[in-house]
Amino acid sequence: MALTETDSSTLPSLAILISGRGSNMMAIAKACADQQLGARIGIVISNRPNAKGLEHARALGLNTAVIDHTAFASRELFDQALHERLATERPQWIVLAGFMRILTAGLVNRWDGQILNIHPSLLPLHPGLDTHKRAIEAGDKFAGASVHIVTPELDAGPVVAQVKVPVLTDDTPETLSQRVLDKEHQLFIDALKICLSPPNSNNET
Ligand code: GRF
Repeated sequence: MALTETDSSTLPSLAILISGRGSNMMAIAKACADQQLGARIGIVISNRPNAKGLEHARALGLNTAVIDHTAFASRELFDQALHERLATERPQWIVLAGFMRILTAGLVNRWDGQILNIHPSLLPLHPGLDTHKRAIEAGDKFAGASVHIVTPELDAGPVVAQVKVPVLTDDTPETLSQRVLDKEHQLFIDALKICLSPPNSNNET
C-alpha cells in the first residue's frame, strides 16, 4: 500500500518543500506511514524539477508538485505561485526540508507560525550556508542541527529542537555534515511531534 493510501485523510496535513536529495522528507514520510506523527503528507513541492527527493516521493505515491523558480521573473512572483499552491492544500505545517530558497517576508507572514525549517547548525551559531565548514574553522567543539519556526529574518526564528554532535579533530565539512545528517532525521520527527501536539496537551489532568 502506498503511504498516502491509509485512512489518514482527516489527519493534519504537512506540505514538505525540498530542493534536492530529500532524506529528511523521506524520514518524515516514514514516520507518517508508521503513524508516529498523527499527520499526513499532503504534498511534496520542489523548486527544482530534477531533485532526487521528487523521485523518492513519487515512488512512495506521495502527491508532488514542481514550482521551478527559474520560470519566475522575481522572488515575489515565485512566492506568489508557491502560496497559491499551498493555499489549495491548506497544510497545518509547511516543512522546509532542504529547501534552498529564501522566502520573502510576504510569504512568511502569510503563513505566520506555520513554517518549520531544519538548519544544520546549532542556531544562533552559523545561520546561512557552509555551516559545517564554518563550525570547523571556528574551532567549535560541537556542531549539530536546529529545527526552528521560520520568521522573515533568515535562520533566526524560535528554535523548537536541537541536536548536538561532537566536532572531531580530523573532521572535514563532508564527514561532519554526514554525522549531523544522521541525527537530523530523528530531530525533525521529534520537532514535528512537538509542533503537532495540542497546545495544552501537557496540562491535561
Ligand atoms: C540538510 O542538511 C538540512 O539540514 C539542510 O539541507 C540538507 C537537506 O538534506 N537544510 P536532505 O535533502 O533532507 O537529504
